[in-house]
Amino acid sequence: MTIHDLKHKIEKFPRVSLIHSPTPFRKLENLTAELGGPEIYIKRDDLTGLAFGGNKSRKLEFIIPDMLAKKADTVVTWAALQSNWAMQMAAAAKRFGIQPVLILFKRYDLPEEYDGNMLLDYILGAEIHIKEPLQEAGTKSADYLAVAEEVAEGLRRKGHRPYVVAVGGSMPMGSMTLPLGAISYVDAFLEMAEQTRAAGFEPDFVVHSTGSGSTQAGLVVGSKAISSKTRIVGISVSDPKEPFARDVLTIAKATETALGLDSGVKSEDVIVFDEYIKDGYGIVNREVAEIIRLVFTREGIVLDPVYTSKAMAGLVDLVNKGYFKRGDKIVFFHTGGTPALFPNRRKIVEYLR
Ligand SMILES: Cc1ncc(COP(=O)(O)O)c(C=O)c1O
Repeated sequence: MTIHDLKHKIEKFPRVSLIHSPTPFRKLENLTAELGGPEIYIKRDDLTGLAFGGNKSRKLEFIIPDMLAKKADTVVTWAALQSNWAMQMAAAAKRFGIQPVLILFKRYDLPEEYDGNMLLDYILGAEIHIKEPLQEAGTKSADYLAVAEEVAEGLRRKGHRPYVVAVGGSMPMGSMTLPLGAISYVDAFLEMAEQTRAAGFEPDFVVHSTGSGSTQAGLVVGSKAISSKTRIVGISVSDPKEPFARDVLTIAKATETALGLDSGVKSEDVIVFDEYIKDGYGIVNREVAEIIRLVFTREGIVLDPVYTSKAMAGLVDLVNKGYFKRGDKIVFFHTGGTPALFPNRRKIVEYLR
């Protein structure tokens, strides 16, 4: 299928305008020279432009119209304390007159301060419910959905019309029955493919941080649908490869169905590395602090301490291990998240001192 035909399929979904696109694309000349292997490029989805930018803004361009179609006056979601999704969702919802209700689970060793994304949630006037973590081992999306549905039920009793959407706008569940988040990343893949074509090449790999799965699912479907050779490598920041890769595949298959594609995404198309989670979701380590300094000093680009730094640490390690070879062309998707730098300041300074 051509890029044009696939765009046409995506255009059938209602969309609001929240982002500046295409997001910038360029070669990381200094980093490429420093690593001495593959050619490394960057796609700046941290510059999407809603609030402080990031991948969630793309997803919300398709999710907000679904909220409006269902005449929602409130939106309930869940996420971690310093969630980028929760903040960008709240910012988009507010813009359309919908009140955000955020269930934020304490997941790592950060204080519950109004700092980083939590400060932005507060400024936006989002309703914030802070909860103790659910039993991590074996906790499924359905368990989180049950907590969100309970909050939504309380709102319904007060006469509201809540829309319930899963963390990251990823898994079709609750009120969002279609994989709208992933559809936006099929579109992002096409946007990148046009930029790389204009630059005269087709990437061998895309590398990005993967968390709730729809960024990866969308990129995989986009690549597969236009028969591109580009393989999508997701660096997990929270979940082990299995069962996470299965969730990505589920979202990818739902995306193919929603778009009416028969591209046939298979499990081998979903490449996930979980080695770079290290001490756990959101736990800053020396490698994270050093990679943030490396990319900032060489390229003037700020990575975040929870997602993109771990993805870049993965990219560098996979170059060193020979997974990515000299001559390969890699596009690193910067998916945003920089507000989380500030609440993590203590550890970053400790490691860089
Ligand atoms: C900055 C950042 N990068 C990457 C991701 C991962 O994207 P996804 O949830 O679609 O897997 C997230 C959210 O989880 C994020 O906030």
